[in-house]
Order: sequence, then C-alpha cells, then structure tokens
Amino acid sequence: MHQCADPAQRCAFIVRSASAPIPAHKAAQTEKRQALLMLHGKCMFEAKPDITGRTEIETLVNTFYDRVCTDEVLGFIFNDVAQTNWTTHLPKMYAFWETVLFRTGGFTGNPIAAHAKLVPQTAMGRAQFDHWLQLFRSTVDDLFAGERAEHIKNCAADMANVIYSRINQVPDPRFDPANLTPEQRARYSRYQQPAA
Ligand code: HEM
Repeated sequence: MHQCADPAQRCAFIVRSASAPIPAHKAAQTEKRQALLMLHGKCMFEAKPDITGRTEIETLVNTFYDRVCTDEVLGFIFNDVAQTNWTTHLPKMYAFWETVLFRTGGFTGNPIAAHAKLVPQTAMGRAQFDHWLQLFRSTVDDLFAGERAEHIKNCAADMANVIYSRINQVPDPRFDPANLTPEQRARYSRYQQPAA
C-alpha cells in the first residue's frame, strides 16, 4: 500500500526511487515524476480530506481561480472581458460557497446578473460552462474527497445549468425529468414542497 514517508514533503514512492542510485539519463524523468506526484507540496496519493469549513473553501477557491487565470478558454473572460478585481472577487466566492455548503458566509450577490452582463461581450454557451465545470470538478478532486466534495460538485453542476439557461434564455435542463441524473432525482425528491 502506498504510504507517505513525510506527508509534508515527499511520498514513499519517491523516497524509494531516490534512495537507489539514479542513472544520469533518468534524473530528469525522476524530477518530472516527483513534480507530478506533488500538488501544493502534498503527495497526491495521500488520503484527501473532505471540505469541513471556510479554510477548505478558501483553498478550493484560490486554487480554482489560479487555474482559471491561465486557462485558455476562461482566462481571458475574467482578465480581459470582465477585468476582474481579484481582491474583491475571491472573498465574494468564499462567501458564495460557504453559503451554499453551510448556510453561513452571508453571500448577497446576484450571479445571474453578473453573468448576463457578459453575454453581449463574449460567448457564454454550453461549451464554456462545461469547460468551467470540468475545471471545477478536477480542482475539487485534486484537493478533496468525501461527501461534501461530491456535494459541492453537484451544486456547481446545478448552478451552471441555472446560470447557463437563464442568461441564454433556453429551458433549464433540470426541469426536464428525462435529463435528471439519479443523484439529482434523489436529492430533489427530498426537497420540501412549499405549503399551499
Ligand atoms: C462559463 C462559465 C463561467 C464564467 C466565464 C464565469 C465568469 C464570471 C465572471 C467574469 C464574474 C464576474 C467577476 C467580476 O466581478 O469581475 C463571475 C462572477 C460570479 N460567478 Fe461566474 N462564471 C462562470 C460560471 C459560474 C458558475 C457555474 C458559478 C456557480 C457555480 C459561478 C459563480 C459566480 C458567482 C457567485 C459570481 C459573483 C456574482 C456576484 O457578483 O454577485 N460562475 N463569473
């Protein structure tokens, strides 16, 4: 079984390879493998934590938008089209996800209006939303594992559907029962109907 020799630094796999003499032509390969196995200084094989509160949300949001900034599809939308002020956007997103996950955080923005504003300026279609979701899901999976990690990915998918449909004025795929995933079907059936 894989085990980290020093969780803060390097994993047992790397230590084992490094303890044997490495031929010169293999050294670069070993370096590359070491970089691939480490993410933010942590071994990727280590058991990942779940999201338990604000600290993990901040880590997730910071890592996600670091990736967004250099992403070939999304980067220019934030940096050039919206000219996002990251100092104000990041805390807003911490509050948003804290509110979604824990009902704390006090998010009071208007995501539909914020995205609708972008439609006349740049493509905000299914392709962009699917790409956003793919990046968000892989960021969650790189950092976390567990019930809340799964839940936040499902919430992101729901939100992406809502925002995409509203800003492009197409029917929300959530309301076509044929399009519901088994997870959505089970979750929506638990929502209480408002009293008549
Ligand atoms: C194509 C995909 C998306 C793009 C390109 C995009 C881009 C943006 C941009 C440019 C802003 C404004 C930032 C600023 O203040 O300059 C924004 C705000 C925001 N986005 Fe997105 N976004 C996308 C998808 C999503 C999704 C799926 C969610 C939710 C899961 C989301 C949640 C938010 C929220 C909560 C805000 C802040 C709204 C406010 O100011 O009230 N975004 N987004």
